[in-house]
Amino acid sequence: MQNIGIAVTGSGSAVPSTFLDNHGLAEIVETSDEWITTRTGIRQRHLAKCSESLSAIAATAAARALESAGLTANDVDLILLATSTPDDLFGSACQIQGILGANRAVAFDLTAACSGFVFGLVTAAQYIRTGVFRNVLLIGADMLSRWVDWEDRRSCVLFGDGAGAVVLQANQSDRLLGFELKSDGSQNSCLNLAYTCEDQELIPGVSVSRGKFQPITMNGKEVYRFAVQKVPEIIDKALFHANLSPDNVDWLVLHQANQRILDAVAQRLNIPENKVISNVSRYGNTSAASIPLALDEAVREGKIQPGDMIAASGFGAGLTWGAAIFQWGR
Ligand code: ACO
Repeated sequence: MQNIGIAVTGSGSAVPSTFLDNHGLAEIVETSDEWITTRTGIRQRHLAKCSESLSAIAATAAARALESAGLTANDVDLILLATSTPDDLFGSACQIQGILGANRAVAFDLTAACSGFVFGLVTAAQYIRTGVFRNVLLIGADMLSRWVDWEDRRSCVLFGDGAGAVVLQANQSDRLLGFELKSDGSQNSCLNLAYTCEDQELIPGVSVSRGKFQPITMNGKEVYRFAVQKVPEIIDKALFHANLSPDNVDWLVLHQANQRILDAVAQRLNIPENKVISNVSRYGNTSAASIPLALDEAVREGKIQPGDMIAASGFGAGLTWGAAIFQWGR
């Protein structure tokens, strides 16, 4: 089998235009800007209204990523959409393919909650390494605001909507240097967006389930503990596979769940604050979108430069967690 290198050659992002700051949230639930900023670092989050579809915002992020990679929609072989909040339970990747006019591309969704982007990156890499596809569009997009309980102050302050995308391409030099992925279903109850149902009898003895998804439930303390312990461990493992140490990392790009988690992970890895990419204050936790959204902003601001070593790590419901070590650009 061929062994083909992988490069991350472009990025893009998009968020809904409306945002809600902490003062606005304090009109909905009993909370304060002071409580939210000191516990989470979040100051505002963008929220999508009914007319703003996940597919449309994801397609905007994707088109920007293609442009920055110098590709057209027709060059794309595979569209991978990491999301837990599709417009259609059958998947939204094909809707994005349609909007972009990426007629040659195979398109499908991948669900791994806030780890979706890192799981998607590794999945895309397998197709490229084996020579199956050369140009992959990987999108992380979520609109958790659709599923938040807006009366639950413990969770509604955390989440926001958005989309980020990257282009992965077959490349002579391999820029994906290491990764590690993990899942632990025994802790599934920490964070759920669960389907509940009742039986509907069709004929005597034959029933089907009729139900709906319930709002997000979360054990914040358990998720915090899990993230602070498991994320440094998995980044260390991925760095080990890459033959690198935390000293070699130029940028730590973590799932933007909470500033306190970002700080604690960086501290455990001994990575200084000025190497930690953070935009959680402006977007909150955008789930699968958060890593590519943070990455894209840092690239466009000129912080992340070609050749820079990035340690990215996602973590969330499942529970799932993963890390990937890659250099930016060809
Ligand atoms: N405003 C004001 N008070 C609040 C709020 C709020 N928004 N939320 C909770 N409180 C109160 C609680 O009721 C509690 O009061 P009590 O002691 O009178 O009962 C007090 O504040 C402390 O609550 P805790 O839940 O213990 O607060 P904690 O310090 O654990 O912080 C937080 C909560 C911010 C959610 C923290 O646990 C956390 O960051 N966890 C990680 C959550 C996370 O990142 N989830 C997503 C990751 S996975 C994914 O991305 C899908």
